[in-house]
Amino acid sequence: MSNEAVRSLASDTTQSSAPDATPAPASPFNRRSFLKNTMVAGAAITVGAGILGKGIPAFASASDGAAVTKGDIAILRFLAAAEILETDLWLQYTELGGTQDSEESGVNGGSPLYMSALQILDSDMPQYIHDNTDDEKSHFTFINSFLESVGADPVDLSQFATLPSSKATGARDLGRLTNLMNLNVDTSFWTRYRSSKNNPDLDPNFAFGQAETIVNRTAIPRTDDDLVGPAHIAPFNIPDHLKAIAFTAGFHFCAIEQGGSSLYPSLAQRVTNVDVLRILLSIGPTETSHFQTWHDKAGNVLTVTDVDPMTGSKVSFRQLSTNQPESLQSNLIMPEPCPFLSRKFPPCSIIRPTNTKGAAMGAVRGLTNDGLFIGQSPDFFKTLRTLAEAADAAEREV
Ligand SMILES: [Fe+2]
Ligand SMILES: [Fe+2]
Repeated sequence: MSNEAVRSLASDTTQSSAPDATPAPASPFNRRSFLKNTMVAGAAITVGAGILGKGIPAFASASDGAAVTKGDIAILRFLAAAEILETDLWLQYTELGGTQDSEESGVNGGSPLYMSALQILDSDMPQYIHDNTDDEKSHFTFINSFLESVGADPVDLSQFATLPSSKATGARDLGRLTNLMNLNVDTSFWTRYRSSKNNPDLDPNFAFGQAETIVNRTAIPRTDDDLVGPAHIAPFNIPDHLKAIAFTAGFHFCAIEQGGSSLYPSLAQRVTNVDVLRILLSIGPTETSHFQTWHDKAGNVLTVTDVDPMTGSKVSFRQLSTNQPESLQSNLIMPEPCPFLSRKFPPCSIIRPTNTKGAAMGAVRGLTNDGLFIGQSPDFFKTLRTLAEAADAAEREV
């Protein structure tokens, strides 16, 4: 079913549900919606009957009766894909490092040693990992369900779940969409959120410094060999190599969730339908809730150096809780006020970036640069790019 047809169908349904009603909206906002619906419904006369004849479920927004536009659907479909990818990576984390219960994460019992390493950052890490996973699953499931309710195609990336699982005890052996074993974690969010002078939307060429340099590192134990080795710093029962893996994960959690924190407000600026706007405005802040939590926990990182025995890649984490400048200080986790919209305004504590232009492709580029899709097929990238380009072509219709 085409997106135009969805839009027409939604309007057609609005009309048919109240055929005798001729609303006289009181506010300018309602009058605009009424005029728009009337015009769109007129177009639906020519195609709506045929669509209804196929038995495809009809839907119109319950909040204001307005149509779900082609652009709304493109944005939702891209977000569904992003949430499926998030779910895929969080499932890998929770199978090994999350609280093990009767839900998904309890299948193989987890990796107690990996959990212990994560708990250097906070004793509640396994619970948070478990819950972040649940949240992501609910995000893509909800968005896909909403898409289906308006007759649009849900997103399914399962054909691309071909990447290998970890072989460590606790992980399930199934195909994955994402690769957590060769990550380049961009930790520039750390200094970006502590900067009072620069905002990536106003200073697109400004290079925010990295909190830690993490290149080609695994964030999960790949085999049980990653769970053993010498420990030169306390806690001495946890090998330095495993500490470095857990700390890589700790920063990756932040990097992923701050990306979601920016993506939702960036795309929300171009949706039209009030229910779709409500979806974006309601899911987006949960990403920020995740980010805020992970941001706090990553600040408990300890000084440790490790050279990966498989790749030769070296990482040196620095302790951020003591003797750091404001750009790195671990407890400065609340967004520092910074320039917003224009420097003629006073600084404001905000999520950044939120520039809407090219936001979806920007997210794809960021995830790709992180190494998250290493090993994926050309068809996977083409599919993701197509979804992102459609989302970035969406325009708010008022
Ligand atoms: Fe999400
Ligand atoms: Fe998320």
